[in-house]
Amino acid sequence: MTMNKLNIPQAHFAAAQHYFNTIPGAVKYSKKINGMPYSFVNVEGQAYASGYRLGAGAFGIVRMSENAAHENFALKVEGHGINDLDRSESDILKLVGYHYGLAERQLEKSITFSTGLHSVETDKKLYKVMKLLEGNDLIDEIYKINEGSYEYKNTLTQTQSLIIAIKSCQNLMKLHDMRIIHRDIKPENMKAKIVGNDITISYMDFGLSVILPPDHIIYPKNEIAGSPMYMAPEIYNEANPMASKGEASFASDVYALGTIFQEDLQLPKHVCDPMLKHNPRERISLKGAMDNLVALLERQPDLDSHARAVITSVKGPRPLPMTPVARSPQVVNPQAAHKVHAPQHVLSVKNTPANRVRVMVDIQPGFKLKPIAPQGAVAKAAPAVAKAAPAVAKAAPAVAKAAPAVAKAAPAANNAARPLPPTPVEAKAPAVAPVAPKAAPVAVAGKHEEVKRALIHRFEQQKANAPALLNRAVVENPNLAAPVAVLKNFQKVGVKVF
Ligand SMILES: Nc1ncnc2c1ncn2[C@@H]1O[C@H](COP(=O)(O)OP(=O)(O)O)[C@@H](O)[C@H]1O
Ligand SMILES: [Mg+2]
Repeated sequence: MTMNKLNIPQAHFAAAQHYFNTIPGAVKYSKKINGMPYSFVNVEGQAYASGYRLGAGAFGIVRMSENAAHENFALKVEGHGINDLDRSESDILKLVGYHYGLAERQLEKSITFSTGLHSVETDKKLYKVMKLLEGNDLIDEIYKINEGSYEYKNTLTQTQSLIIAIKSCQNLMKLHDMRIIHRDIKPENMKAKIVGNDITISYMDFGLSVILPPDHIIYPKNEIAGSPMYMAPEIYNEANPMASKGEASFASDVYALGTIFQEDLQLPKHVCDPMLKHNPRERISLKGAMDNLVALLERQPDLDSHARAVITSVKGPRPLPMTPVARSPQVVNPQAAHKVHAPQHVLSVKNTPANRVRVMVDIQPGFKLKPIAPQGAVAKAAPAVAKAAPAVAKAAPAVAKAAPAVAKAAPAANNAARPLPPTPVEAKAPAVAPVAPKAAPVAVAGKHEEVKRALIHRFEQQKANAPALLNRAVVENPNLAAPVAVLKNFQKVGVKVF
């Protein structure tokens, strides 16, 4: 997407600023009352214009913004007030240098705030002014949406994919150096500015991110957080997703990135497999992953100056020819030597079993439950819901390829540019203590991969049976095919159903 500047006349800003200065506590100068093409938001005393939509996620809508000095920003609007989770996002945005300000607006009456993926009832809105990241969402660089399914665009060269991968590792290392675990790494949450091999990659959406306290290697609150398809096996429990393990660590971010490399960028197995080790202790470090990627990049036939610069950024400049002086013993910089590359994921902290987990299940507004005969144990078991999601979401690209006919049959009903994005599973613990579900969850529960395959198969069957139901709800929650009673059970165990 080309980013069009807003170029709002100074007089408009002056009017907005005047409004904010005269009406104490005013946060929004709505276009309905100001008669201009833009609304303005008062963020920490400064008027920011709220322009066209740059994107939307599960929780927020992000708009192009401009201040009186014609500087551009991204303005994230969310349907709630400042709570702890937001504070933590803002803290993290500050750490990464993306934070410019925050404002909360109390509405006169409750409204339904909808991002297109979720709706919430709220009487507050939250505005965050963030650094504007240029480019497209990585997901849009990799896929095009065709009749409700993902299809590979096949426009990225292997060299570009490798550069994207290396830059993703480098930027994630920077986050980890600040002790930030991102927890929701996926192509929807990454910006990619791609001009040939001149590529910039940035992470967005720190909504689920946490700062790892000193002396910890696993985030101490066990929460299921992340997007199912990219979630590491130590985050959720295959056999019983409600009994979350929630062992988020730097290694779980590595797993998410490995999933992108394997599933989305389709990089070779020898690069991805070590990042996808089931046991986080055995998973490769980012440095190791990057070395593998660089070794591969070096062998590409189409290296230009940009690609070479990437190689140099990982390996350092080529050593100059040795001179007698250079041969004298090298001084090792002890600080550099002990940096990041120490094993990142030796797990020593044991988490207590989670007993307060809320999983958000994405059911589209207006979606009608169609009672279809429950299918075996899976349909009966409420907990399978969280589990179902990863597999099914993962199935999306594969299914698009494997069964184009089926994909066609599905109406573009769900349209909204991204029909099947993995939904973040929110992990704020609710007050409700879930009843430990007794039913055997997924019949095939066993190895991570087996479960995924079984569920992908299930999803395909379901799509064939009921193409009209092809939407997020069904896709991410095959149990919706089960009777309403099952949903009631979800609520009982603390699963919030939208
Ligand atoms: N800083 C930014 N600059 C430009 N676009 C952004 C920025 N942050 C978010 N976006 C766009 O808005 C979308 C949703 O933002 P995100 O933070 O992921 O929201 P959510 O928490 O709701 O998932 C992103 O996928 C992206 O398209
Ligand atoms: Mg997002």
